[in-house]
Amino acid sequence: MIKRARIVGTGSYVPDKILTNQDLEKIVDTSDEWITTRTGIKERRIAPEGVYTSILAMEAAKKALEQAEVSPKELDLIICSTISPDQPLPSTAAFIQHGLGANTCGAFDMAAACSGFLYGITVAEQFILTGKYKRILVIGVELLSRVMDWEDRATCILFADGAGAAVIMPSEDDRGIVHTIMHIDGAFTDYLHIPGGGMRYVSSHETLNNKMHFVKMRGNELFKVATRFMENVSREIMEQTKISIDDIKYFIPHQANQRISIAVAERLGLPMEKLYSNIDRIGNTSSASIPIALDELNRAYKLDKGDLILLASFGAGVTWAGVLLKW
Ligand code: UT7
Repeated sequence: MIKRARIVGTGSYVPDKILTNQDLEKIVDTSDEWITTRTGIKERRIAPEGVYTSILAMEAAKKALEQAEVSPKELDLIICSTISPDQPLPSTAAFIQHGLGANTCGAFDMAAACSGFLYGITVAEQFILTGKYKRILVIGVELLSRVMDWEDRATCILFADGAGAAVIMPSEDDRGIVHTIMHIDGAFTDYLHIPGGGMRYVSSHETLNNKMHFVKMRGNELFKVATRFMENVSREIMEQTKISIDDIKYFIPHQANQRISIAVAERLGLPMEKLYSNIDRIGNTSSASIPIALDELNRAYKLDKGDLILLASFGAGVTWAGVLLKW
């Protein structure tokens, strides 16, 4: 009898090339001191030319599949969360399906920005619980260095490239995905967006000249919404599952800004040693940030059977989401 959907394998991949704060000092008017104190980031990874989103995704996916002991041919579904796809058409999931050598299972992209991985595992859970599918690959992947305005010091210091993946399968005991919550409020669409390149502002000389294909962010306003919404969704998860903050082994927030993570943890009354953070090394990788963090914890053998792990995300849309895992 299927009781829950469970993450049985994780994987992650970041490019080798490191871009430090000192490197950024040579590109824009900024300083290591400003970036470190305002964001917690010391360095981030940037993919070299010729590497696309699907390539990063497949590196992470292969590791997750290997750990789960699942062959690509056995997959029933591939969900790829990204806002930096290989191409507008077809989906990045199509390139991944073919590149991995998976069967012609279903595969699609999901656009929920930094909440995309949590949205992805929420959708995957439903297919597992209904019994329709048994092996689902969920990937969060971003190549944000390609959509950065490298003259905009408020954004180019934050975002980075990387991928994280998880294989989700049925569980016959109570280990697995305990609860999920998804939210969106489209009143905030212009807080974080790439205006050009869609059907609203079709690519043209004008959109190029106005830098409309790059990420635009109202950082300071977003900061406040992010903190409040990640706190709220964490509380919702705990209330609805009747657990307290003391029951949580690790809290993995989307790695948007270390000050946001700390503020959320403090508001929740979470001891700082339970707050997982890798933003100093990885930067903000949007969809990829939570699965990379989860994979790091998993591969460091820090997760024990039965541990409760709270995941909370926030991103463009604005979207925000929470997931409680029993490991
Ligand atoms: O992942 C999806 C969700 N993303 C987020 O949640 C991001 C949320 N926002 C943030 O992380 C922060 O707002 C930022 C890190 C983007 C900015 O930090 P802040 O403390 O909110 O700074 P600010 O935007 O209020 O700017 C303060 C000052 C400004 O100068 P003035 O006007 O006070 O003279 C900026 O021009 O800092 C300046 N500034 C910089 N200075 C040096 C902005 N970026 C930089 C920079 N280096 N890179």
